[in-house]
Amino acid sequence: MKQAEGSSKQNPLEMLREKNEQALKGGGVERIAAQHAKGKLTARERISLLLDEGSFQELDRFVVHRGTDFGIDREKYLGDGVVTGFGKVLGRLVYVFSQDFTVFGGSLSEAHAEKIVKIMDLAMKNGAPVIGLNDSGGARIQEGVSSLGGYADIFYRNTLASGVIPQISAIMGPCAGGAVYSPAITDFILMVEQTSYMFVTGPNVVKTVTQEQVSAEELGGAMTHASKSGVTHFACANEVACIDQIKHLLSYLPQNCEEEAPSLPYETKGDELRPALDTLVPENPNHPYDMREVTAEIADGDSFLEVHKDFAENIVVGFARIAGRSVGVVGNQPAVLAGVLDIHASIKAARFVRFCDCFNIPLLVLVDVPGFLPGTDQEWNGIISNGAKLLYAFSEATVPRITVITRKAYGGAYDVMNSKHIGADLNFAWPSAEIAVMGAKGAAEIIFKREIARSDNPEAKLREKIDEFTDRFANPYTAAERGYVDEVILPSETRQRLIRAFDMLENKVDTLPRKKHGNIPL
Ligand code: HXC
Repeated sequence: MKQAEGSSKQNPLEMLREKNEQALKGGGVERIAAQHAKGKLTARERISLLLDEGSFQELDRFVVHRGTDFGIDREKYLGDGVVTGFGKVLGRLVYVFSQDFTVFGGSLSEAHAEKIVKIMDLAMKNGAPVIGLNDSGGARIQEGVSSLGGYADIFYRNTLASGVIPQISAIMGPCAGGAVYSPAITDFILMVEQTSYMFVTGPNVVKTVTQEQVSAEELGGAMTHASKSGVTHFACANEVACIDQIKHLLSYLPQNCEEEAPSLPYETKGDELRPALDTLVPENPNHPYDMREVTAEIADGDSFLEVHKDFAENIVVGFARIAGRSVGVVGNQPAVLAGVLDIHASIKAARFVRFCDCFNIPLLVLVDVPGFLPGTDQEWNGIISNGAKLLYAFSEATVPRITVITRKAYGGAYDVMNSKHIGADLNFAWPSAEIAVMGAKGAAEIIFKREIARSDNPEAKLREKIDEFTDRFANPYTAAERGYVDEVILPSETRQRLIRAFDMLENKVDTLPRKKHGNIPL
């Protein structure tokens, strides 16, 4: 467009070019250099790594804050510290916001919050995931309650969107105060090691209030939340790995609760037998093995994406593909604490089961569980209500549900781990399965206590009774006689059976009784 002769008005195209240029600079070259010096990428660099090339449509690039206090009105940056919009990941639509630490430390103003809210509302109406790349000093201090209100607007939408569209939060810098609660409501959190932190109060406040001295990394770094609190599902070595992980995770998920997860094309070559499984379970029932090896044999290639890898390792959860189909796997892990169910394992698995159920992802449950962990620590911290979460989560799940009992299924844990009684569709057992109220030794000691005490040789008597109990109950056939197990299968045939079974369940329709919502024991 030509500028009118003699006019002092700036050429409109030139003006747009300048504004765009200014917006792309964020908080300026010095702050960008400081960001890079910390080993961090900028908000825009992160978006371009995440989205398919050329697919990003930015919104609200020229939004500025409306603050007036403490001289903040003299300093305005186009975009106000967050880059928002939509684009594609591996060809599928996603909405994204990426906080720009170079502008007021990525802090959240009223206008910044409105930008995030806008893409969340679009995502809900159009049924696609929201990905938040968080790097923020929290509430914009100069804006006071308007900023707090902005956070609450986001929390509210996170909650309404829960179970409707997948929500993923990557933490790529500080995330403190109430700001942590938006990620906490979303489905998955990823953190970057050494450069990201999540805490309700930072180390300084901790020191003042409790005299406890702790570093930011120890208090709320990636490995702390990956292994101790379970707040984060993934700890990533760096930002690039973190963004790759988001893309990988998305590939297992549907766009929204009305859709199925995408299946990869799969053609059987007739080689579905897995002979290695026939010898994987040790003969001695007290010897460990790794349930991840079972998963690797059953799943397509190296499709298993473990979630919460470093937290409550006595249970394994994650996504895998079976004949191209996305499934959620939950497996007791005999290699850690003999696969016992404790508070953390129950919470971890319950949340995963509920996620899969929200988003139509069928469940495969691999069972080798000696029971719930006894002791005062567990009882006083509520193993009863926490264990009940897993029972509740399986019971209310309406997606296709298949169980494979590889070895122990003892006591209440037998019921909890997706038994037929709580709605599993198909239950298989390996010949090594032991389905009983408890282990043979414990059982023999209780029910034959007097007989053993009266015996001339109590030790021999106990052994005899253990053998008797083992013969009667430490096998899958008593359960199979009652139809609690649909088929006892050779371990090597498991993959074959599962392909066929998930195929059969493809059009499963199941509904819960009409209600407002259930009341899971929180
Ligand atoms: C306004 C902020 C800010 C904030 C940082 N900045 N946090 N501006 N509001 N919350 C600005 C700084 O003034 C600075 O501006 C720039 O961002 C970078 O900050 P630095 O401190 O220089 O960076 P760094 O040393 O890396 O430290 C980062 C930080 C620290 C750890 C995040 O800035 C910090 O502690 N900020 C305050 C955190 C906080 O207490 N927030 C409120 C939490 S309560 P210049 O111009 O120098 O570049 C909360 C409530 C939410 O969030 C409630 C929801 C319900």
